[in-house]
Amino acid sequence: MSESDIIAEFRRAVNRSARESEQKWEDSRRLLEAAVFPSILGRLIQQSQAAALPLQVKAVLADSLGQGQVRRVQDLDGVALKALTGYPPSKAFRSLCLYFGLVQGRASKWPTADLPREEVARALQSLPNPFDLLLATPVATVLDLGAGDLSFADELVDHYLPLLLTHQRELVLHAVDRLDPRSKLGGPLHPGRDRIVQLQARPGLTFRFYGNQDMFDLHELDEAGHLAARYTLVACWAPATPTFAYEPTRLSEAVIQEDLRRSKGAFRHVRYEGESALEVQHGERALIFPSWKFDIRGPVALLSLMARRGLVGVLGAVDSQVFWEILAQLLKDSRYRPQNQPFNPENLPIVFGDIYQRLTQLKLGETISLTQLGGLRSRFLKNDVSDAAQPIFGFRDVWIRRGAVFPGVPASSTARQFMHMREESPPWFLTLVPEDQRP
Ligand SMILES: C[S@@+](CC[C@H](N)C(=O)[O-])C[C@H]1O[C@@H](n2cnc3c(N)ncnc32)[C@H](O)[C@@H]1O
Repeated sequence: MSESDIIAEFRRAVNRSARESEQKWEDSRRLLEAAVFPSILGRLIQQSQAAALPLQVKAVLADSLGQGQVRRVQDLDGVALKALTGYPPSKAFRSLCLYFGLVQGRASKWPTADLPREEVARALQSLPNPFDLLLATPVATVLDLGAGDLSFADELVDHYLPLLLTHQRELVLHAVDRLDPRSKLGGPLHPGRDRIVQLQARPGLTFRFYGNQDMFDLHELDEAGHLAARYTLVACWAPATPTFAYEPTRLSEAVIQEDLRRSKGAFRHVRYEGESALEVQHGERALIFPSWKFDIRGPVALLSLMARRGLVGVLGAVDSQVFWEILAQLLKDSRYRPQNQPFNPENLPIVFGDIYQRLTQLKLGETISLTQLGGLRSRFLKNDVSDAAQPIFGFRDVWIRRGAVFPGVPASSTARQFMHMREESPPWFLTLVPEDQRP
């Protein structure tokens, strides 16, 4: 077959893909958006060079797609693409995406952060802070869990967006919080309307905030294509307590309830100004919280979510109780997970032994790799994960740093408040690299 016959056959196949599904053709329009175009183009180049295609076709594809130098569809080689597909650049790009299977309905709107975990771990080792990974990976996307007043979102954008823009790159930032924006409860954790509007208006940033959204119930957002399958970073600042302070696979419901009443006081569900709420008797005062405040999910659910949705997970301003409960789940040896014994200042040094000593001796700002202290749990058993339908995961690297805020690292308002709480012990900052996912 002559070269022109080979190209003509490829063109017919690409044209067929473009006509196959009207819905997919419409969906492919989103791949031209500035926030996703560079990463989709990267995948297209990769996929087309890995495909079983005649060398002549691969060579034309490599030349016309720009070999990684192109940031906008206008910069593609229109003449070469026309010769290859018969279409002008945008249409040619969309039809090639369809041909190479890069359009999978709504879920493909956002770029998926994909890199071998070994490479991620290596990159992190040379970075002063994990958020710098946004500058080092092809896709810069962040999911902020339990985002509160969006102060971290603000700081992250102020710090990284200008740096990304100087390299003609975009930032995608999605934030979720369970607090209902219409609720009168939650006080300063509600994000101000101005902050949301300003973030939404920043050029180069695609920002979405989903309030009244449980982080463990993301399937509606997923179905509607509102979330990326995997983000470069999944962050959770000041993970909620007591939500993550008790692990239900280690502590029975009765033990958790008893410890809650002992440490927080009596509590009951009430109606407060027309909405359901939780009333907690704290000494003389009755405190009112959102009704789900004492829903216990535990660290395994949070770790599992972070491992599934992020190349890297970052947990900032983790308070003492949540930290030790998380640590117990990260270590391989089951002696760190004593059944039905809530952790307290008396039993922590006994359960964690040398690890407790090493960690509590860390100075503010100091970092240690958890692998230096003990073996990491690379597999979680199915019944450790409350949702057995989710894949099993583990972590290959975990770095622990002492303190709430660090120079040059964006932080949340809760983290910044820790600095003024003299009686509170300094919180913890964890960077977690999940293992490659297993089915
Ligand atoms: C201690 S606050 C921290 C807020 C913010 N990240 C910060 O550091 O300032 C915990 C936040 O987690 C949210 N939250 C608790 N459980 C949640 C859940 N299941 N899904 C989503 N958000 C949740 C709360 O509404 C609250 O805003």
